Amino acid sequence: MESTRKQLIDLLENEQGHISGQQLSEALNISRTAVWKHMNELKKDGYEIEAVRRKGYKIVSYPDKISGNTLQWGLDTAWIGQQLYHYDQVESTQDIVHQMAKQGKPHGTVVIADEQVKGKGRMAREWHSPQGKGIWMSILLRPPLPPVQAPQITLLTATVLAEMVAAESTLDPQIKWPNDILVNHKKVSGILTEMQAEQDRIQYIVLGIGMNVNQDAVDLPPAIAHKASSLKEESGMEWNIQRTIQSILRTFETTYDQFIDKGFEQVKAKWEHYGYRIGERVTISTMRDTWEATLIGIESDGALRAKRDYGKVEKLYSAEIHW
Ligand code: BTN
Repeated sequence: MESTRKQLIDLLENEQGHISGQQLSEALNISRTAVWKHMNELKKDGYEIEAVRRKGYKIVSYPDKISGNTLQWGLDTAWIGQQLYHYDQVESTQDIVHQMAKQGKPHGTVVIADEQVKGKGRMAREWHSPQGKGIWMSILLRPPLPPVQAPQITLLTATVLAEMVAAESTLDPQIKWPNDILVNHKKVSGILTEMQAEQDRIQYIVLGIGMNVNQDAVDLPPAIAHKASSLKEESGMEWNIQRTIQSILRTFETTYDQFIDKGFEQVKAKWEHYGYRIGERVTISTMRDTWEATLIGIESDGALRAKRDYGKVEKLYSAEIHW
């Protein structure tokens, strides 16, 4: 059920001017004193609220500081983030969600941190997650799918991130196989999918999303500065992290529901639309040899499709692509 606080914010947001204490108390079915108490709580959470005699209340500005409450209030989702936990500092949001999964927390549970001190990347790499500069978030999913379909969820997530960046800016995001989000050829976001499964059924997935949002160039580790960037560096504007998280979660929910309903085809098409170097020739090295081919898309199992010059289509699972 929607909390009174969230309904209160919706009412304030939907009113152009001020809305009186009386109107709020009637709409929410609570006393004027309760309205006043809620207003004070909102102020504590960083909302700036103007109170004008005989006119009522109006939101003047929103909090910069993220909290579980402020994240949930603006989120109109059916299942994602219904349980949402925000921490100032953690080792890794992945580990927390694994624990929550074992405790039986529901599908759609979200954990977000301002900072991770042991952020994990793919292939046991470290993921630099400095305080307040990015999105460090893990989502618990319990998809009704066999384990072979898990890679589709990672590919789906990459399309969600690319779509969000395209929708919220004039940037032109691309997905580098398998699932890095690039802007102007530099990585701004990565996905780490960890799964617990039985033979024929996924028990749960911990879907980790790391997105560099408001780092300046100097904030990026020197070792990766030539190939990594942030949304701020590439767009020249500071991003509202809270709204960006909400936008990802909303788009994720819709895209995931469509995928469960209708299958992978739409996701595949979207992935290929954003796919980095799709339609271009690249050099590929496998264990056996190095050759040139044109990248043509992805398979439904997540493999990259590359066409050799003499026409043969190869499915790549772990090749090195010389991007
Ligand atoms: C990659 O290597 O590209 C994947 C990076 C994934 C980082 C995210 S940040 C939130 C979650 N917690 C972690 O420790 N890692 C993932």
